[in-house]
Amino acid sequence: MKDILEELERRREVARKGGGQARIDAQHKRGKLTARERIDLILDEGSFEEFGMFVEHRSSDFGMEKSRIAGDGVVTGWGTVNGRTVFVFAKDFTVFGGSLSEAHAEKIIKVQDMALKNRAPIIGIYDAGGARIQEGVAALGGYAEVFQRNVLASGVIPQISVIMGPCAGGDVYSPAMTDFIFMVRDTSYMFVTGPDVVKTVTNETVTAEELGGASVHTTKSSIADGAYDNDVEALLQVRRLIDLLPQSNTSPLPEIDCHQSVTEIDASLDTLVPANANKPYDIKELILKTVDESDFFEIQASFAKNIVCGFGRIEGSTVGFVANQPMVLAGVLDSDASRKAARFVRFCDCFNIPVVTFVDVPGFLPGTAQEYGGLIKHGAKLLFAYAEATVPKLTVITRKAFGGAYDVMASKHLRGDLNYAWPTAQIAVMGAKGAVEIIFRKDINDAAKIAAHTKMYEDRFLSPFAAAERGYIDEVIMPHSTRRRLARGLKMLRNKDLSNPWKKHDNIPL
Ligand code: HXC
Repeated sequence: MKDILEELERRREVARKGGGQARIDAQHKRGKLTARERIDLILDEGSFEEFGMFVEHRSSDFGMEKSRIAGDGVVTGWGTVNGRTVFVFAKDFTVFGGSLSEAHAEKIIKVQDMALKNRAPIIGIYDAGGARIQEGVAALGGYAEVFQRNVLASGVIPQISVIMGPCAGGDVYSPAMTDFIFMVRDTSYMFVTGPDVVKTVTNETVTAEELGGASVHTTKSSIADGAYDNDVEALLQVRRLIDLLPQSNTSPLPEIDCHQSVTEIDASLDTLVPANANKPYDIKELILKTVDESDFFEIQASFAKNIVCGFGRIEGSTVGFVANQPMVLAGVLDSDASRKAARFVRFCDCFNIPVVTFVDVPGFLPGTAQEYGGLIKHGAKLLFAYAEATVPKLTVITRKAFGGAYDVMASKHLRGDLNYAWPTAQIAVMGAKGAVEIIFRKDINDAAKIAAHTKMYEDRFLSPFAAAERGYIDEVIMPHSTRRRLARGLKMLRNKDLSNPWKKHDNIPL
């Protein structure tokens, strides 16, 4: 019996070494952790339960029968993050470059199925060379089985991808269908085809970093939702995000103790909006003063900075925030901002996370670049996302809410539950200058008349009261009471019961 136990320990020891010490050392030399080290960091200490440690590939082409390595390039299983179950798989670059074989795919599929059946989040950690070239179509089939499961799990359980090395070819599409992608600066890159293929096909010379590094995907393509300096930081931040999310679309929101009273007044908010309506201010200050203990997890912080999206808590319970950012392009809505916020609102709606929207938006961005780039369709994505969302929707207009952008930003007309405005709000079809130049075109050369018309327009429309008179605004509130009002509103809306008509699925303008 003792021999059998020792044999198990020996086999485990070999499996834990993956591709061997030399490859582990090479991994460390590149500033990367191994798959098992990463899993240990992302999960609570000692909570990892591994599956399929002894799985090997079944290929015998190209002499593969001579090199079988226990685990076959991916470590899979489950554990906990602050006591709550999550499923995890981590590609092991030390084994065949983490490439995906049929058996490797089966291991991922097993945890995907278990995560869905048991309604718990799944985290995939990527550091891999794509399809196992020696396996050919068996690897392609494996990928498609993984993709299919990503789609079925979408909107049911949170799916998170962390890119911590190469992620190319077949490996990119599974992360792309998950809810969030995080990358590590300088050591990770994602692309469908690498620099060599790019050179052959388009004659462009480009490095892996220039083609698909963290900077590209967090600032240009918006494929990734965040980037961190090293493996440790990335994994700790993913733990922080998991803490904010429910286990599934039918689970309650996680709640933690709140150590900051919601009745405290923050008088500084009363002077946040500058007297000059054209002067910017930082909307993040309002977010940080609204959430518990200024703890805000921003999504896509480096992309479309004219809109801010992210999670925080109010009275210990998770809330999604969307806010126009007057510091960048005056907070205007363009295609990128619309797409970014639409996806975020839809995520919140999938997982029953209430959405708080702070509005200061001068409208949609004019110009050929935007129109040719499909602003109509991208803007409609955000409109669609807000309109279909049935979660509690609370809106605070701090300053401008002009034109179509007023409608889009969780207005009363899109089933906003609580629509507040600060006294500084200006809810109108457009700003005074544009409006007067159109409706008083005949007086355009008479400065005195134009000034009088402008004053009249400002007095009548550039306030919250025309909207409040119609009930489009439920209440004009003092800025310093924003956190308290939202906290009370969220409590009142806890049992909100609203559903959309039955449909197979909608047809959001993609
Ligand atoms: C089998 C692979 C592999 C792969 C890497 N390895 N990728 N084995 N299949 N796809 C092996 C290498 O042979 C090597 O083994 C070890 O992993 C480490 O690889 P290196 O090349 O030494 O590492 P590095 O220099 O860091 O380069 C990493 C890399 C490179 C950039 C990922 O290996 C690479 O370009 N690999 C091929 C990428 C690729 O074209 N994948 C197929 C994509 S097509 P030894 O034994 O020497 O250590 C695809 C289609 C699927 O995925 C589509 C589905 C929708």
